[in-house]
Amino acid sequence: MAEAGSRPVRLCASAELAEKGRALLFDVLQWREPARAFALRFEGRVVAYLNRCVHVPAEMDWQPGEFLDSRQEFILCATHGAEYEPLTGRCAGGPCGRGSLTALDVREQGGAVYWYPSRDTRPALDDEGSAPESPP
Ligand code: FES
Repeated sequence: MAEAGSRPVRLCASAELAEKGRALLFDVLQWREPARAFALRFEGRVVAYLNRCVHVPAEMDWQPGEFLDSRQEFILCATHGAEYEPLTGRCAGGPCGRGSLTALDVREQGGAVYWYPSRDTRPALDDEGSAPESPP
């Protein structure tokens, strides 16, 4: 859930996320530590998660931005094959047990995809210490 008063961050134009296509990767701070996240379109909806497997905290894409299995049914961790339901992030098979991916709050508005940071997951700072682009 978005933190009250947190400003949305524009991630990309809606058209940049094709159905079951390559995900958008972006940098975040998770509990003040650098981490990666991704946004993916699946069954028309845009979802976003930390790029961090529940089994071992490793990034999951088998090529940059490629997360879905060959049948395009599940988010697949490239390391040991954990499968996650794309719309919920819940583990659907493999060594992730009853775990779930950490979901980020993303919404489409006016033809763009926005991320609403939370208390736990904040925008990464650029080299000059300022937050990345926000909508006007
Ligand atoms: S690190 Fe993802 S399944 Fe082991």
